[in-house]
Amino acid sequence: MTDNHSEEPVTDPFKPYKGRFETYEAIPEKGRDKDSIINELSTMAKEENAKWKTGRVSGSFYHAGDEHRAFLNKIFSFFSHVNTIQFDLCPSMSKFESEIISMAANMLNGRSVKDHNPEDHVCGTVTSGGSESIAMAMKAYRDKARAENGITSPEVIMPKTAHPAFQKAGLYFGIKIVEVPVDLPDFRVDPEKVEAEINENTIAIVGSAGNYPYGLIDPLEDLSDIALKHNIGFHVDGCLGGFILPWIDKLGYNLPVFDFRLKGLTSMSADTHKYGFALKGTSVVLYRNTSFRRHQYFSFPDWPGGIYASPTAAGSRSGGLSAATWASLVYLGEEGYLRAARAMMTISDELKKGIEEIPELTLIGEPTFVISFRSEDIDVFHVNDFMKTKGWRFNILQLPPALHFCVTMPQTEVPDIAARMVADLKEGVEYAKTKAGTTAETTALYGLAGTLEGNQAVNEILCGAFDLMYSI
Ligand SMILES: Cc1ncc(COP(=O)(O)O)c(C=O)c1O
Repeated sequence: MTDNHSEEPVTDPFKPYKGRFETYEAIPEKGRDKDSIINELSTMAKEENAKWKTGRVSGSFYHAGDEHRAFLNKIFSFFSHVNTIQFDLCPSMSKFESEIISMAANMLNGRSVKDHNPEDHVCGTVTSGGSESIAMAMKAYRDKARAENGITSPEVIMPKTAHPAFQKAGLYFGIKIVEVPVDLPDFRVDPEKVEAEINENTIAIVGSAGNYPYGLIDPLEDLSDIALKHNIGFHVDGCLGGFILPWIDKLGYNLPVFDFRLKGLTSMSADTHKYGFALKGTSVVLYRNTSFRRHQYFSFPDWPGGIYASPTAAGSRSGGLSAATWASLVYLGEEGYLRAARAMMTISDELKKGIEEIPELTLIGEPTFVISFRSEDIDVFHVNDFMKTKGWRFNILQLPPALHFCVTMPQTEVPDIAARMVADLKEGVEYAKTKAGTTAETTALYGLAGTLEGNQAVNEILCGAFDLMYSI
């Protein structure tokens, strides 16, 4: 129960504002004045922003600086009240979304599908985020396979490192997800093992560019050939890398082919709200041709409320987000994205080099903008415990234990950030040596998963955390 007027000191890290600002269990009888609301919320935003403006937080905050964000917020305000589905009343919505899709398709070499089949033309939709883009592609494959091949027990095969959004889509849409473990030491999936899992119910295979845990690009060329050979779908998850790898490629880094140049690729997701530097709440899902997208749409003509249809999982969506996404793309232009990629890769290269020089740490694979590492000599979770005391927030990986740091623009705004991280990591390694044989704090949660009982315990903890989040 909430006590609005509690005098007790605030100790709950989930609810630090309790007691400090008013807590509302019900809509207040009388409205508050605007200024007090603005003051309160700007205080929260300022304090929370200060945490990642240090540049010490991995991933999470993808934006191209305060000035860029202010510009997008202004654009958002012009269309914040518009529902994208109402494009008859607001044709700007059709302009923004069709052009976002076209710009993303061209960035990802969509034009090359014509070389494979002159009738193909990359198309897609704007969604609310990577998970929805992935879910929509999975739904499209499921419904296409059912309509065209009578498949009623669909299966999708993916490397174990692919994002849980595929598992979520599998659960929502009744698709069996077959996971193929990645092989050590290079942490990439063996395409032969993927092919071995294909059966008459397989509707698609999945690869990532790059995957979330290690940022690595799967052996996409081989997976593409396998998809073509078996005449099945092939989705490349570019949610994380889709809006940065094209620029890293253009900068001259040696990257494998990861986009529509792959002949077998039938769909790709790429998040505008990550390295597209748009506001949170948009992503793009692209298809090789409209025969896939057609199966993503939902329509329900038989309803007293009128003929209903929606292109994505959402019903109403804010036109402000589409407008801001469009504005981000055209404001930054290729030049702006290249500049950003160069700045982030300068930091990434320095980090890679520095970590390589720490004998106890081993880089995982060939990193680009996500730097992941593990250790055979020390417990990297002890290193994480130490790094936390210095304000760093790494992403914690498991099975096997490892850490990653995903470089974003905030790092580029703090001088010498890579050198500082490497220096702290060296100290962290020494700290870990002193803690050998003890259990790291980080292990408390991350040491549990991987067994049936352990997974159940983690599920309980996670659901409990959500309950706590939604409690007043
Ligand atoms: C590789 C990859 N795929 C999918 C997603 C899911 O994206 P979202 O959180 O926007 O739903 C993420 C998120 O980090 C990701 O890294």
